[in-house]
Amino acid sequence: MKIINFGSLNIDIFFRVNHIVKPGETISAQSIEKRAGGKGLNQSIALVKNFDKVYHAGSVGSDGAFLKEYLKGEGIDTSFIKESKNPTGNAIIQVDDKGENSIVLYKGANFDNDKEYIAQVLSKFDKDDILVLQNEINNMEYIIDMGYKKQMKLVLNPSPITKEVKKFDLNKIDLLLVNETEAKEITNCQDIDQIIEYFRENYPDLKVVITLGCNGSIFVDKENKICQEAYNVEAVDSTGAGDTFTGFFVAEFYKNKDVNDCLKLATKASALSVTKQGASISIPNIEEVKKFDEEDL
Ligand code: RIB
Repeated sequence: MKIINFGSLNIDIFFRVNHIVKPGETISAQSIEKRAGGKGLNQSIALVKNFDKVYHAGSVGSDGAFLKEYLKGEGIDTSFIKESKNPTGNAIIQVDDKGENSIVLYKGANFDNDKEYIAQVLSKFDKDDILVLQNEINNMEYIIDMGYKKQMKLVLNPSPITKEVKKFDLNKIDLLLVNETEAKEITNCQDIDQIIEYFRENYPDLKVVITLGCNGSIFVDKENKICQEAYNVEAVDSTGAGDTFTGFFVAEFYKNKDVNDCLKLATKASALSVTKQGASISIPNIEEVKKFDEEDL
């Protein structure tokens, strides 16, 4: 079994600020850092910390060669990554004193994935291989259709949420990972119990993980509802915490581990990532996650 992540690759420019800039305001940053990011790239890094065969597909410009090298250095197969004539995707990220962020995205090469390229990549994968998707690249419906026709197991984290997500056929998805805002947007329900009911009634075969920030997370399928509390840590930078959760949960879940353990591992990993600056560089190793105890911090 292999995992292919068809996802975004961004150059993240982090500005450390006292507060997120307001409309019309000009403020000075305490620091600026250029780092490897993108929800796709971050999730691949988190996946490979806990899974051997991880492949990443997606597009970068000539300015993004270092992203490919970084993934390769982490043990990810990058042979499917395409070079585009357009510049690499960029994210301008402000992180404030409370560790909260605000992000402006430039799509760039992330929207250069044409159907021929997608078909060529997916032709190298088989039934029951896992296809991981976020919502930062183009041709998402086509990728979902192709993966489903190949009987791959589709994992969708529809971040950042857009109107297009409502067009995705969730009957083709095996595992959906959403935060509370995304869950409300997709279901048009405001209350968690209604959200769960919506998924169970409309998509009985779908497995869903809903992350609820400091209120933990919930796994739901047609029979089970499993809750996990959040860990209380001192937040330095929350960027990439959701990606860390997704990568660790997905790798553990498709090894057929107990869902309680999958939720616990992913929650620990994302809590640890919040205690460090950056997105992909803050993702912990599996040894650190297994050792983690809330009282250590
Ligand atoms: O989820 C964090 C990521 O969102 C950042 O790395 C940035 O690139 C944006 O895509």
